[in-house]
Amino acid sequence: MQHQCSLVGLLLSVFILLSPATADETTTISNAATYGTWEGWGVSLAWWAAAFGQQDDLADIFFTTKWTTFNGVSVPGLGLNVVRYNAGACSWNTVSDGSTMVVSPDMISSRQMDGFWKDWNSADPTSSSWDWTVDTNQRAMMTKAQSRGANYFELFSNSPMWWMTTNHNPSGNDAGGNNNLQAWNYDQHAIYLANIALEAKNSWGITFTSVEPFNEPYDSWTGSTGTQEGCHFDRSTQNEVTIYMRDELNNLGLSGILVSTSDENTYDQAKATWSSFNSTAQGSTGRVNTHGYQYQDGDRSGLYSLIKGSGLSIWNSEYGEDDATGEQLVSNLILDLIWLHPTAWVYWQALDGGGWGLIDADVEAGTIGAVSQKYYVLGQFTRHIREGMFILSGGSDYTVAAYDASAQKLIIVAVNWGSAQYLNFDLSSFSQGGVSGALVNRWATQIGSGDQYANFTDTYLSGTKFWSYFATNVVMTFEVDNVKL
Ligand SMILES: *[C@@H]1O[C@H](CO)[C@@H](O)[C@H](O)[C@H]1NC(C)=O
Ligand SMILES: *[C@@H]1O[C@H](CO)[C@@H](O)[C@H](O)[C@H]1NC(C)=O
Repeated sequence: MQHQCSLVGLLLSVFILLSPATADETTTISNAATYGTWEGWGVSLAWWAAAFGQQDDLADIFFTTKWTTFNGVSVPGLGLNVVRYNAGACSWNTVSDGSTMVVSPDMISSRQMDGFWKDWNSADPTSSSWDWTVDTNQRAMMTKAQSRGANYFELFSNSPMWWMTTNHNPSGNDAGGNNNLQAWNYDQHAIYLANIALEAKNSWGITFTSVEPFNEPYDSWTGSTGTQEGCHFDRSTQNEVTIYMRDELNNLGLSGILVSTSDENTYDQAKATWSSFNSTAQGSTGRVNTHGYQYQDGDRSGLYSLIKGSGLSIWNSEYGEDDATGEQLVSNLILDLIWLHPTAWVYWQALDGGGWGLIDADVEAGTIGAVSQKYYVLGQFTRHIREGMFILSGGSDYTVAAYDASAQKLIIVAVNWGSAQYLNFDLSSFSQGGVSGALVNRWATQIGSGDQYANFTDTYLSGTKFWSYFATNVVMTFEVDNVKL
């Protein structure tokens, strides 16, 4: 860090001499806006919104940046603007050959999502083969999100309608590694999703940004004894269905809605799937979605290079794990922002148990517990790095940065995994690195116990640098005004 002849600098010098930790690192923020425009942060609605979709307090917490009192605690809203809506695969009617949906013995009932197309008699969405009244709670939460400012909506499918599948079981094929969509239904699956997109546009007031016809399709965790909806698609089948998806959206006049593929479980699977697509399937794809379940592993930068070469953007469309402290989340999210360069990042279940939820909840029992620390850690990013900003290189493996061109504001989020130390931030690469002496607002969350998104007004620019004392495992966000690229 720089020692300046100022009172602040003098006090800091004295503090350093007295403080037990002496490590001292400097990171230089790059002024190069090369990674595209940030589209936003999001969440998938299935399954929590099917249980709690009527609750305004949850909509305020997730889709605004207001402070909301929840369970007696004042909570800063996450300000999510990306919403993933799950097209269900389940219905309980009997189809014309007498068959009914086959339910996995281990199915968790709160994960059975109501589907709209009940039988194969008619593809006309105004016929009695379709029921547009179901799934009210998930739709209610999507509408509440929209009225609070959400503006990216993705329609996604965990499984085609049960009657389109080989074994009539929307949890997957008997052996999870085999395709479960019957060959004569490849186009029907696309027709199903395209008609939901049309209904949403005409009747729900929602224009989907994108439609994702698959969920972790190459993986083989799906199967007839699964606990949730799932469907394996081998890569050549994905290739075919992707082309049908594009065509069926076009047929309904929805050419402005992107097809996103393939929501593979890992970065490496996403790379292999994309590379397997032929030029027609690649040309039918408007964005590449990947899930983040490879955590610390996987070739993020290889996937980025591959997709960047195709001119498409990448979303991490699903991330989750069971670490309620947020430590895993911040570590993997920083890896994504540094190496994968997504333009949006979407958490999986906002309410869930076992450490998975941002708010602890038992979705099956319909009970809601406390806001987890992971929530505050995520808020260190989502409340500050906002739609329309450019993600910059933070210059180190513990720093991410974003630039708001209209407000001329620089956002920095950094984490300290090491011993308690000063971290110094160098803005000298900018044509104007802020105004010396100006206040730098900061927010801090201590992983473990301590500050939870606490804010401080104690940090000032000195020339084009500032610094802050980080305890071990602290995540901090800084906002610097009057910065010019
Ligand atoms: C790509 O594959 C599809 C079948 O999935 C086929 O109909 C199409 O012609 C192929 N395109 C090219 C350019 O080979
Ligand atoms: C600082 O935190 C308090 C809650 O402790 C909150 O009411 C206030 O809005 C926060 N200010 C900022 C700038 O985040």
